[in-house]
Amino acid sequence: NVFAVIMAGGIGSRFWPISRTSHPKQFIDILGTGRTLIQSTYDRFKKLIPEENIYIVTNEIYTGIIKEQLPGITDQQILAEPVMRNTAPCIAYACHKIYVSNPDAAIVVAPSDHLITDPEEFLKNISASLEAAIEHNCLITLGIKPSRPDTGYGYIQYASKTLNENFHKVKTFTEKPGIELAKTFIQSGDFLWNAGIFVWSVKAILKAFENYLPEMNDIFKEGEGSYNTPNEQTFIQNAYYQCTNISIDYGIMEKADNVYVLPTDFGWSDLGTWASVYELTEKDYVGNAVIPSDKVIMYDSSNCMVNVPSNKLVILKGLHDYIVVEANNTLMICPKDQEQNVKQVVADVKSKF
Ligand code: GDD
Ligand code: MG
Repeated sequence: NVFAVIMAGGIGSRFWPISRTSHPKQFIDILGTGRTLIQSTYDRFKKLIPEENIYIVTNEIYTGIIKEQLPGITDQQILAEPVMRNTAPCIAYACHKIYVSNPDAAIVVAPSDHLITDPEEFLKNISASLEAAIEHNCLITLGIKPSRPDTGYGYIQYASKTLNENFHKVKTFTEKPGIELAKTFIQSGDFLWNAGIFVWSVKAILKAFENYLPEMNDIFKEGEGSYNTPNEQTFIQNAYYQCTNISIDYGIMEKADNVYVLPTDFGWSDLGTWASVYELTEKDYVGNAVIPSDKVIMYDSSNCMVNVPSNKLVILKGLHDYIVVEANNTLMICPKDQEQNVKQVVADVKSKF
């Protein structure tokens, strides 16, 4: 009765030019491990969840890449969205579909693009959460000890009151606060980052949709007769266009009052930016991180993040604290501390070419 839903429909624009709308970061082996991010996510869940119960929700343009990268997955397990509407519709669709065949299911919902360095500890946390979610019919999220006032995350204020000794009642959930608020959260000490990994009973999450996103809930509830039948795709094509664009964090997690957090420590990292890849990549003695490293020659250069195709000879001289990335016929050279501007660059490029 346990299911995993992997969300894989985002476009990862901060990882440009390696991450493209046609080939976003979850389908890339960003760290050079030999497996792409979505393959690693799938490999982790396979150890705990029956393979036929692992669903991938993605945009329909990525179903081909998914079949290539995850040959064990059947068409039934790929939930294809006709348009991007963020994570709330993606979760509503998957959970209603699971409910039809399994009204007592426990579900873990996870992004496809995170790095987890201690998968055993991760799976221990997931199985404890699946058990608690069924026993207490609640919404559980995994929390990470924050290390900086990052404005790209959700922040969870937790109470000392616990469900059992491990799961803390969530007092407040604030998705992507401004920098000043994020700083006060960090100083106060009773906040965790939301890892974006959720565990719940299918009944509890559908109840929350009914309460907080009732229109969206109605849209997907109407499909109950179509899920797991040949009509599913036609139904979904229509349903998505009626959905508002909203994330599960804003739509449900900020509002629900039966949310619990499990503080965790399994080497989590959201591979959100080149700086995060730089932090995680092995560096030489002057701080250069190079993927792949066989054909890059550096003189008098330090603290650079270099990611170039392996067949190209690259020479750097006198370059410090830069990102050098080449992919898809595009070369980008950018100071490390200005990478937040990459999103804007992508927008400019899209409007010009
Ligand atoms: N199927 C589908 N459809 N998947 C989507 C869509 C969509 O329209 N939009 C995003 N996703 C996928 C992304 O590919 C990613 O794997 C996951 O859903 C989360 O989306 P992000 O866009 O990466 O969210 P975020 O990073 O801004 O914020 C979330 O994650 C943070 C941790 O990394 C939130 O849950 C934050 O609270 C959290 O701190
Ligand atoms: Mg993310």
